[in-house]
Amino acid sequence: MRQKTDFLVIGSGIAGLSYALKAAEFGSVVIITKASADESNTKYAQGGIAAVTYAPDTHEKHIRDTLICGAGLCDESVVRMVIGESNEQINELIKWGAQFDKKPDGDFDLAKEGGHSEHRVLHHKDDTGIEIERALISQIQSHPNIKMYTHYFAVDIITQHHLGKEVSRQTQGIECYGVYVLNIKTGEIETILSRITMIATGGAGQVYRTTTNPTIATGDGIAMVYRAKGKVENMEFIQFHPTALYDPGVSPSFLISEAVRGAGGILKTGDGKEFMHKYDERGSLAPRDIVARAIDNEMKMSGDDFVYLDCTGIEKEKLLSHFPNIYEKCRSKGIDILKEFIPVVPAAHYLCGGIKVDEWGRSSIRALYASGECACTGLHGANRLASNSLLEALVYSHRSLINSSEELKRCTFHEEVPEWNAEGTNQPNEMVLITHNRKEVQSLMSDYVGIMRSNQRLKRALDRLRIIYGETESLYEKTSLSPAIGELRNLITVAYIIIKEAMARKESVGLHYNTDFPPPVKK
Ligand code: FAD
Ligand code: SIN
Repeated sequence: MRQKTDFLVIGSGIAGLSYALKAAEFGSVVIITKASADESNTKYAQGGIAAVTYAPDTHEKHIRDTLICGAGLCDESVVRMVIGESNEQINELIKWGAQFDKKPDGDFDLAKEGGHSEHRVLHHKDDTGIEIERALISQIQSHPNIKMYTHYFAVDIITQHHLGKEVSRQTQGIECYGVYVLNIKTGEIETILSRITMIATGGAGQVYRTTTNPTIATGDGIAMVYRAKGKVENMEFIQFHPTALYDPGVSPSFLISEAVRGAGGILKTGDGKEFMHKYDERGSLAPRDIVARAIDNEMKMSGDDFVYLDCTGIEKEKLLSHFPNIYEKCRSKGIDILKEFIPVVPAAHYLCGGIKVDEWGRSSIRALYASGECACTGLHGANRLASNSLLEALVYSHRSLINSSEELKRCTFHEEVPEWNAEGTNQPNEMVLITHNRKEVQSLMSDYVGIMRSNQRLKRALDRLRIIYGETESLYEKTSLSPAIGELRNLITVAYIIIKEAMARKESVGLHYNTDFPPPVKK
């Protein structure tokens, strides 16, 4: 089967949906998403969206916090641009129906998170993501120009390569003609030709064993762009969230929002002592790279499997009204957070790198844009400031639309694109080979490419990954395509890029810490 659309959007998180709503004013839009309509990292966002709302906060302060957190590797012009455009984009989200909590006096109830010098995080209780997805999907459903296909898995970006032309990473003018997609319900690979394609496939937390990311977060868009010889960068900067609920055997890990620390939650060791001030004067609210490394260090010193988050000092009414889901989740695990400490561990949470885009969301491949967690814009540098990612997605989807609605006029459909060739493949008779390899990738990445890295660990990870790659590719050649094998290949590709870029960086900066290159001692 084949179909055509002006705009093809891959992904139904905040980046894909906000772009689709705007693109629909300029042409036909198809959204494909590999799970249900709202399944995404966006849905699980707790803390909220960072934006300057009231004095004494200023854009300059938000800019400074973002730059400090990014450890010198942010693109300052991008930081200024995103924060400068933040209020306009958030107002649009509010116009689409997203509701953020207000105080009795009618002002927004702003939360604080690590690395922020002011209260500036707009939130909907502790389930901001659910509220954003609800608002956006209800707009999408009533739009006559938008079709959404759920349970459609994007397999590969179609370029000149599929017309039999030689394409290398150095080739200028690679162009995107659409995407091959697997209709998961029928098992058929369909061709969608598009004039403009937007990749909004989110992050890759699933490359690690312990992650806050849902199972969809397998870096598919990044792997597709890499296979199509597009540019990907900054992949060594993996953000580990300091406080995921310690719940062995349960994946993904449930997040205990940083906003809980912003409201007064304090990190403590097993013997009940505060420890963060040994590492940073900002204590439990230092940026995430510092807190996650401190927890890792404390756990190594004590031999404990977790540290504690003490919320007992937070006023009861505040805790119950702002964090009802966290309260209920912990209660369901037998922890009364009004009286007891929460056991927490760091977990892979956010990918700062991704598909390299310019200030208009353009990737290095023509007619192909990227927005959201799969994109690398320069905003986050070596470490993302909390609650800046939902904001980045809104701003970049908007900017991508401004540019792509013009580009649309120059792009045509490439009818000569062939159908997908599935010859010589069979249904997999040993799914276990695929699931074992996925677990092995997660193990080697967690053991050797986690919070603390070394040259030896990185080399070991690469050696192990090569074996898994070889096995998986031979399986892929003989097996008919399924999301499981597609995701495994994508995870391997993403793991490979993370390791290679970690090896190439001969310093410790932000989220990338290599014990062979310790950071200079501060005087
Ligand atoms: P996503 O929301 O992840 O959407 C990706 C979409 O792409 C999904 O619909 C997925 O199904 C689809 N997809 C992926 N691959 C394919 C494929 N091959 N074919 C078809 N479809 C595909 N950030 C903040 O700013 N504030 C917060 O408070 C916050 N809290 C967070 C809490 C948690 C637990 C997590 C995990 C993240 C949090 N983040 C937060 C980060 C933020 O939620 C994400 O970075 C952001 O939502 C990413 O949005 P996105 O649209 O780029 O991707
Ligand atoms: C959180 O609520 O702690 C997550 C915020 C974020 O990842 O930006």
